[in-house]
Formats: sequence, structure tokens, C-alpha cells
Amino acid sequence: MASLTALLYLVAAVLFILSLRGLSSPKTALRGNLYGMVGMAIAVATTFFVANKPVVWLIVGAMAAGAIVGAYKARTVAMTAMPELVAAMHSLVGLSAVLIAVAAVFHTGVSHTGAQQIELFIGAFIGAITFTASVIAYGKLSGKFGARAVNFGGQHLLNLVLALAMVGLGFTYYATGSQAAFLMMLAIALVLGVLLIIPIGGADMPVVVSMLNSYSGWAAAGIGFTLDNPVLIIAGACVGASGAILSYIMCKAMNRSIVSVLLGGFGAEVAAGGASDGSKKNYRSGSADDAAFLMENAEKVIIIPGYGLAVSRAQHALQELTDLLTERGVDVRYAIHPVAGRMPGHMNVLLAEAEVPYERVVEMEEINSEFSSADVVLVIGANDVVNPAAKNDPNSSIYGMPILDAYKARTVMVVKRSMSAGYAGLDNDLFYMDKTMMVFGDAKKVVEEMLQAVH
Ligand code: TAP
Repeated sequence: MASLTALLYLVAAVLFILSLRGLSSPKTALRGNLYGMVGMAIAVATTFFVANKPVVWLIVGAMAAGAIVGAYKARTVAMTAMPELVAAMHSLVGLSAVLIAVAAVFHTGVSHTGAQQIELFIGAFIGAITFTASVIAYGKLSGKFGARAVNFGGQHLLNLVLALAMVGLGFTYYATGSQAAFLMMLAIALVLGVLLIIPIGGADMPVVVSMLNSYSGWAAAGIGFTLDNPVLIIAGACVGASGAILSYIMCKAMNRSIVSVLLGGFGAEVAAGGASDGSKKNYRSGSADDAAFLMENAEKVIIIPGYGLAVSRAQHALQELTDLLTERGVDVRYAIHPVAGRMPGHMNVLLAEAEVPYERVVEMEEINSEFSSADVVLVIGANDVVNPAAKNDPNSSIYGMPILDAYKARTVMVVKRSMSAGYAGLDNDLFYMDKTMMVFGDAKKVVEEMLQAVH
């Protein structure tokens, strides 16, 4: 029986790894998801059958309730609300780690060895920080708590003192087995979770969510040792490592350091449309018909989708427009910036949903050399990812962030609702270039008008 259990856990672990590998590309993501689901089903079923005297109705009842809520949420969540849903899910992982650790510490008649105590301590405090931090991240992302960064004097010192107290109590628990010390350590970790997240502005939340994802993985791995469950250790480590790598990739693509994200204060709103001397800058605007005419008569069009495309859900209409233009002999492709939108792969997911053929979707490194030969670039609901300040203004907060070189194209058309700033709160010189035409309006509405004009 023990070897069959080990074998099933091994199969589940291999499926988790294949799942992560599959999720790394839109082409294989569906298969990756499937591997993950089968792996999880095997892991849960195996754990259920080897459990020592399980309370069946309780486990089945909890699983059924979780499945109903999960399925409902997955079907109804808006793509733009994904980051907050993910934050909410991480809070549950953190909470389960805490509850399991508390149950283990208070389990009468069971004494834990030194190594087990360390595992419990680590799993519990990471879980507690993840829990409260994720709740605050969820609140900020969903607008329930206000996205503003909250700062007060001595904040970092307070965090340091609390962290030291938490570790000190962890040692007391290790040395004496004191349950009170364990509970006090947990209480401090819960407070720390709140204090660590409040100074971070809503703008940096996606990176924070990815970091919390990583923490929740490590908390699960820690608890996997407590429960002596190898598949939980492996799954936790996979989540922990992939979350950490993702945070690193996001920071790199935004040219931020993880430390600057954690210290907060990024993304303050700046009024757009004004030059540094306070004067108004001029821009040119046109209609959807003008834009459609230019695209119909172009040989090569590159479309740059951004957050606004996701908000207005314009991807289906845009794909129809692309098909029409392609039928008329125009070479149309989509250029994808790694942090366009608000979560990794945001644009790829949207375009895949609209069934855009993969060969039309080109990543930044590959397409950047092609902008100079493009007749038209259609920037749709994107802003920061095409801001030339990242290249030529050393004082800009996004200086050094790689961008899509839209400014090199013969004509640039920008679809957005106003001249207001994007995520980084910065004005964008691309909008004021002679070759640029602003097409104001909701992305979906504008694209539908373009479609009518092309028909
Ligand atoms: P943004 O710079 O945020 O610009 C989006 C633009 O879309 C806004 O300027 C807005 O202008 C426009 N917009 C909003 N709703 C619209 C609608 N319904 N119709 C048409 N336009 C609309 O987006 P981006 O260029 O995609 O850049 C992403 C930013 O997010 C980067 O700064 C990146 O660092 C950051 N970020 C991304 C991630 C990931 S992983 N993707 C994670 C963290 C941070 P109007 O208000 O004038 O319409």
C-alpha cells in the first residue's frame, strides 16, 4: 500500500511539473491545465484513501462547497478582476497553512520533534503573513480598501521589531514547546502581513500578488513536512519557486527592483497633457473612419494591445477587423509587451480567447525591429508599454523599461478615451508626435466603428 501511495504521489508530482511547463506558452496552456487538474485529482484521491480515520462527511462536504464556489467564480470572474481573485485564493492557502499548524500544535497526545517544530513554525508564520497580506491585496485590487499607499513614520522599524519578536517567540516555542508562544508568534505574523502590504500602492499590487503566490507555495511546502505528505511538499515548492520567478520577471520587465516594489510609493497620478513648463501640448485627433481608411491602404499594420483592450473587451471585434484587413492583403500582426495589461500573459489570454492565430501574435524582442518598416501602428488601450520616455528620459520613473518601438512606425494611431495617463501615472510623448493620430473613445466602440468603415 505504501509503495502504491508513493507511486501515485510521484505521478501527481510529475503531472504538476508538466502542467507548469504547459502553462508557459498559450499553445500548450490548455494541456498544461489538464495535467494540473488530473495531477490534483490523483493527489487528493490518494490522500483521501490513505488518511487515518477520515471524517468522510466533513471532507466531502468541504470539497463540494469549495468546488461549487470555485466553479461559480471561475465562470463569472471578469478577466480584469483575475488578479484580485488570485489574491483572494492565496489568502485561503495561507489560512489553511495556519489552521493545519494550529491543529498540529494543539493535537493532544502528539509531541513534535525539534525539526517538526521548525517546520510548523515556518509554515505557520509564512501562512499567517500570506493570509492577511493577501486579504489586504484583494481589498486594494478590488477597490474595497482604497488603493492608496499608507505610510507612517517608523514603519520599517516597527516591522523589524515585530519580525524579531516573531522569530524570538518561534525560538521560545522550539525550546519549550509553549503553545502560548506559538499563538503569540502567529498573532504577530498576522499583524505583519497587514503592515507589509499597506505601504505598497495599488499600482504595484500585481507584483505583490505574484510574491504572495510564492509565499503561499512555501507555506504549503512547510505544512507538507508537518503532515508528512510528499506531494504537498512538491506542489508547494513548485508554486513557491514559480511565483518567485514570475515576480522577478515582472520586476525586470518593468525595470523595477523587488526592494523598490516592497518599499512602495510608485504609480502616483500625474496630470497628462502638459509640458514640464506648464504649457499645454498639442496633439492631433481623428475619427475611427480616418483610422480605418489608413489601415485599409497600408501594407503592414502592427497592433499593440494594452490594458484598455482588456477593460473594454474589444478583442473579438479587433480580431474581426484583423481578419477583414488580412483578406484585403494587409499584413497585420499583434505586438505583445511582457507586462501589457495587469497580469502576466494578459494580452495572450485575451487574444487566444478571440481565437487569434498564434503566428499573428509576436513577442516584443521579435517584433521591435519591424516597427520602422510598418506603415501603421494601432495602439489600442496601451500607454506605458509604448512610452518613449522609458528610452530617452533618465528622470522618468519607467526609464530603462523595455518598450515596443511604436514611435518608429510611419503613422501611429492611438485608441483611448482621453489624454489621461496609464498605470505608471506618466504623460506619453508618443501621443504628441506629428505622425500620431489620437482616436478617442472606448476601445470596443472605436473598433466596431472601424469595422463598419472597412466593410
Ligand atoms: P497602461 O499604461 O495602464 O495604459 C492603459 C490605457 O488604456 C490608459 O492610458 C487608458 O487611457 C486606456 N483605457 C482604459 N480603459 C479604456 C477603454 N475602455 N477603452 C480604451 N482605452 C482605455 O497599460 P499598458 O500599456 O498595457 O501597460 C501596462 C502597465 O501595467 C505597465 O506600466 C506595467 O508595468 C504595469 N503592470 C503590468 C503588470 C503585468 S504583469 N502585466 C503587472 C504590474 C504592473 P484612458 O483612460 O484615456 O482611456
